[in-house]
Amino acid sequence: MTDSTMQQNEGKREVTFRVHRFNPQVDTKPYYDDYTIKLEKGITVLRALNYIKEHVDPSLTLRAFCQAGICGSCAMRINNMSKLACTTQVWDELDKAKEPGVIKVDPLRNLPLIKDLVVEMDPLVGKMQHYSNWVESTMPEEEWGKKEFLVSGEEFLKYDKATDCILCASCVSECTILRANREYVSPAVLLKSYRMNVDTRDASHDQRLADLVKDHGVWDCTHCYRCQESCVKHIPIMDAIHGIREDAIERRGVKDTSGARHAEAFMDDISKKGKLVEATLPIRTNGVGWTLKNLLPMAVKMVIKRRTPPPPPLVKASKGIETFREEFREMSGHVAKDHEKQSGE
Ligand code: SF4
Ligand code: SF4
Ligand code: FES
Repeated sequence: MTDSTMQQNEGKREVTFRVHRFNPQVDTKPYYDDYTIKLEKGITVLRALNYIKEHVDPSLTLRAFCQAGICGSCAMRINNMSKLACTTQVWDELDKAKEPGVIKVDPLRNLPLIKDLVVEMDPLVGKMQHYSNWVESTMPEEEWGKKEFLVSGEEFLKYDKATDCILCASCVSECTILRANREYVSPAVLLKSYRMNVDTRDASHDQRLADLVKDHGVWDCTHCYRCQESCVKHIPIMDAIHGIREDAIERRGVKDTSGARHAEAFMDDISKKGKLVEATLPIRTNGVGWTLKNLLPMAVKMVIKRRTPPPPPLVKASKGIETFREEFREMSGHVAKDHEKQSGE
């Protein structure tokens, strides 16, 4: 090989893209195709996939538009993490690849698959409609267009970061609750709902909040932080989720929400036994009717697999429970005092 050829080859590598394929018109189940191409350093995953589509396999289906991290349409799972293909460098992914030289590409999760790397966004849009993710103007209609409807800089700061969302659905794809329950409101919708609820020009706050605390709403979030970790715009989604919860407790009271009832049942178990009595936790949180309707199929599966949690009489208190109870009482006393202090301020 000559020096000039070696120089040309520097920064070039053969890369294999292991791409998820599924065409519902001909395939009965998904499979992977390997495409090996020679690439230069500096190429994004989107450019590489477009190259494959143009030069190797025109049947490969993906969605993209702006190619600049703005429109959100090229979100997909690259090496098992949802991200934008147009802002993801092939070289960075090679460093993370499980199999040397192989980059795995899959469609987003938690949304219905249309074809190859393209998912259906309608369920997300439907949730945005359900939770009224728009500003319902408090300005009388006759004044519309005649004057500006301003917010102060200070007010805007409360939702400034949330406005960076490009609705790419990466957080939706990574949400752990959505993996188990597709009806869950979803992190992107919670973020938008928060943004609307803190907007002083909006008139739908109370109705939106009432919807958010219902089943499949804000209290179902498990605080796993996966959505925030995967957000392509580094938006602190958890701040929005905490914000909605605090607002719900403040305006609607603690007993109103299943989340608060869950926390109460949790504390009760811990104070008495030092551990959770899992078998009855859903009933104490959401009642018998809800539990039968929503968890019966899962309970049957658990019985079949012999994975049912023990019934309350068989849950023995943890070792050292007496010391723990004392500490728990002391801690609860401090918390009660803090609350008294805060409400007196
Ligand atoms: S923190 Fe909540 S919304 Fe975010 S991924 Fe986890 S369960 Fe989903
Ligand atoms: S919150 Fe972040 S990850 Fe989720 S849709 Fe918006 S930009 Fe995408
Ligand atoms: S193509 Fe628009 S964000 Fe990637």
